[in-house]
Amino acid sequence: MSQGSTIHAVGYVFTPSSVASLTFVPRESINDRLVDALRTKGKQLVVYGHSGCGKTTLLENKLSQLFSLHIKTSCMKGMTFEQILADPLRQLKAMYVAERAGKVGTKVGLGASAKDIALPVGFSFESSYEDATKAVPIAPNAVTPHVVAEMLGINGACWVLEDFHKIESSEKQKLAQCMKMFMDLSARYPDLKMIFIGAVHTAHKVVEYDPELRNRVAEVPVPLMTEAELKEIIHLGEEALNIRIDRRITDRIVSVSNGLAAVTHQIALNFCHARDIECTQKEKAFLDTSKWIPALERYLESSSDTLRTVFEKSVKDMKKRKYDHGRLILRALTRFPQSGANRGDILQKIRESEPAYPASGLTSHLKALQSEERCSILTCDENTGEFSFSEPVHRAFCYMLFESEDKAKVRVTATSQSVADFLKRIVPELAEQIAKLEQARNGLESKPQKRTSDGTDENSET
Ligand SMILES: Nc1ncnc2c1ncn2[C@@H]1O[C@H](COP(=O)(O)OP(=O)(O)OP(=O)(O)O)[C@@H](O)[C@H]1O
Ligand SMILES: [Mg+2]
Repeated sequence: MSQGSTIHAVGYVFTPSSVASLTFVPRESINDRLVDALRTKGKQLVVYGHSGCGKTTLLENKLSQLFSLHIKTSCMKGMTFEQILADPLRQLKAMYVAERAGKVGTKVGLGASAKDIALPVGFSFESSYEDATKAVPIAPNAVTPHVVAEMLGINGACWVLEDFHKIESSEKQKLAQCMKMFMDLSARYPDLKMIFIGAVHTAHKVVEYDPELRNRVAEVPVPLMTEAELKEIIHLGEEALNIRIDRRITDRIVSVSNGLAAVTHQIALNFCHARDIECTQKEKAFLDTSKWIPALERYLESSSDTLRTVFEKSVKDMKKRKYDHGRLILRALTRFPQSGANRGDILQKIRESEPAYPASGLTSHLKALQSEERCSILTCDENTGEFSFSEPVHRAFCYMLFESEDKAKVRVTATSQSVADFLKRIVPELAEQIAKLEQARNGLESKPQKRTSDGTDENSET
């Protein structure tokens, strides 16, 4: 068995919804850039990329290597600046010492001494003042960026704001201001910084709120994972589980994943479940291609309703007479890389299956698929004129949906083929039997009927 005698549950090996550890693949291409920015004193960070491309995992790994502590705040729609600001204090269990009695403890956080801290009087950590008689949670109106920065600073912590794109612009603006406070205090606390993680098109807008930030914020885009990196995830999973997956399956998983590690983990997990692999195997197990389609279908069934809803909304009522335009366009685009294709290439691809597909109208259908009403499933690059899926996860979903529909068609065709074969075989036999019966009946009818002495027909059977 590989990796010593450790037995891993499959859910700890392939981890579509949590940070990968056993199957973590370091990403050299962005590593240096990220590490440089993290190590530069006072440098704030914006890390952005498509959903599921590995932002959180990458940062979690790097931050735990480079920082003694990082505090993570998950931003949610509708959250106010004040609520966001209060979150790290809540996690640090920072309290306001309303009344003191006796000796005040000297330890605050990680080795800093109370008298060194330039905090508004009364702020502390719950456990810091041994004899504090009354420590109460900090009142919301007393939470300021300065207090938060100091509290994080004395703990040697940095502050990660996940899903920054989800909050309102007005609150983003206030957070951009807050960054300045962190920069100023970095002279005293070298690890103090804010790290924003967000969606590809919106996260880096944080610097736009304040031009002064431009040179002091590093923007690190996290690209989709390469095929080699995705294969490495599967390979590490095979090692951990002591299995070997048929190379054709590995290749299929990688191509349907569309650069998204989250999809690779999910399908690999589904495939293992379908093949009854629940933990590390005692003897090396070889998984051939059977149960691949059920694993894929399971992904489609369980992949959040949002993906299906986006797909259905995007192609709704686009069927005009013979052609289902939305589906045909999306299907054609799954045959191109994530970067997309121009109108001419899309038309050509559609005509491979629908030779008479009209060119007129394609432009307006492509435009419609970019509309909000159709969930902006497609986007068009103004510079190259190429159309592509706005979110790689939608391309991955469509790719799998069409693949499974094609396989289902093959199954139906195979079934009707076998029915046809059966009929072809049976019909001549039946025809022969019928001919024989008719012959026999004709023979009977032509024979003269004789009456026996007991009144029955001589030819009738008893
Ligand atoms: N470098 C990596 N090696 C192995 N697996 C990875 C890697 N990066 C990400 N993953 C896996 O991919 C999945 C998605 O990664 P992660 O949550 O980090 O993406 P994200 O970009 O933060 O997504 P979101 O935008 O939805 O928050 C996780 O399940 C994680 O296990
Ligand atoms: Mg994330």
